[in-house]
Amino acid sequence: MRMYDIIEKKRDKKELSEEEIQFFINEYSNDKIPDYQASALLMAMYLNGLTNKELVFLTFAMANSAKKLDLSRLRKNGNVIVDKHSTGGVGDKVTLIVLPIVASLGVSVCKMSGKGLGYTGGTADKLESIVGYDINIPLDQAISQVEEIGVSLISQSGEIAIADKKLYALRDVTATVSSIPLIASSIMSKKIASGVDKILLDVTVGSGAFMQNIDSARELAKTMVEIGKLANVETKAVITSMEEPLGKSVGNALEIKEVISFLLSNESTLNSPENRELKEVVFEISAHMIKMAGLGDDIEANKLKIMDSVTSKKAYDKFIELVKAQGGHIHNVYMDWINMSLDMPILKDEARYLKEIHAESDGYIISIDSKKIGEALVALGGGRQTKEDQIDYSVGFEFIRKVGSKVKAGDTILNVIYNDKDKFNEAFEYINEAIYIDNVADTLGIALRNRPNVLDIIT
Ligand code: URA
Repeated sequence: MRMYDIIEKKRDKKELSEEEIQFFINEYSNDKIPDYQASALLMAMYLNGLTNKELVFLTFAMANSAKKLDLSRLRKNGNVIVDKHSTGGVGDKVTLIVLPIVASLGVSVCKMSGKGLGYTGGTADKLESIVGYDINIPLDQAISQVEEIGVSLISQSGEIAIADKKLYALRDVTATVSSIPLIASSIMSKKIASGVDKILLDVTVGSGAFMQNIDSARELAKTMVEIGKLANVETKAVITSMEEPLGKSVGNALEIKEVISFLLSNESTLNSPENRELKEVVFEISAHMIKMAGLGDDIEANKLKIMDSVTSKKAYDKFIELVKAQGGHIHNVYMDWINMSLDMPILKDEARYLKEIHAESDGYIISIDSKKIGEALVALGGGRQTKEDQIDYSVGFEFIRKVGSKVKAGDTILNVIYNDKDKFNEAFEYINEAIYIDNVADTLGIALRNRPNVLDIIT
């Protein structure tokens, strides 16, 4: 078999066979196909799409391109292992809140998360803003940790789905990332290889997501749900909005602070308008994970359990247990607002400067472009332009006002937390372009403020 013939066949819109796809994945994983030929085939796939058969062959070939994780130790007592995966976004700290919640309610989770590249943040980087937290513990240790405390959160293992790791890096530099079949097979190959029983996908849509409109988000979600069925791994997708950054903060240590504050909420703060978006997404995803784990069929009843897990601080205690188990440093802090001492993670959060960004005119905030805010974070040093870049964990943005807020010229919309004045100037250009204020009718402003964040569920 020759790679040249495979490229030519796909270029000419003919269907590739299982053997041809298998050949490509095996040979490329073993460094026997040069990047220029793999790039040519990826571009042909990007332009001509994949048939259903090709999609399945590609996903399974990538899933089998290295070792598969054996989670059988975790299945004793009938435990069902449920994983969660987000297609990415800006300010997306959902995994860090959902995992301790569901683990505190009996769902076992052995989760691998990626590092951020470009404007989307990575959960692994957010965790590394906790002093001492080790995202690279060996897989075996991560599994033992799930046996002991019900949860582990580590970096995407290089030992799993090696073909995807290589191909994703190549797609990243050859403008072939944003293809629904290539994204679906990339994500599902890693998930299938990670040995879980069920998968809950958070498919994001909007300015800061891969999918820019609801139709393409549904198509991506359906494609992944179908692959899950064929792999005998029940898969559900929740489609959520990434039109504006999620929640109140963007930036690694700042997002951990938001996670802590969310997990320390009482019923009234949890139901406050500031937590509305994050709560909606967190509760929906957690409730479905609990159902998939066989621990409660009624989604609304599950949401009540979630409320209790947060307000009783069980979820917070689980978060601290996770941080400690992976070496994160903790200090005990007296919190006068709740009149108690609490263990708190120590964060890499020493930034030197804070600057307020003000509204330039009266009106409603119509949009805050997530992608531009993600790019502003990269400009500040809080994200990576290349895989080798070092991150400044302390920098980022705290939003005081979000979409649908009525503002007067001079009101503070966000705080920028930074270390380097030149980087601030670069970030400011993006922030300026990201925020759009207009003098619209109150009804429109209020509708924007109350728009839903959970947009659909695909099963
Ligand atoms: N995330 C992945 O893991 N793969 C893609 O192709 C896109 C997002």
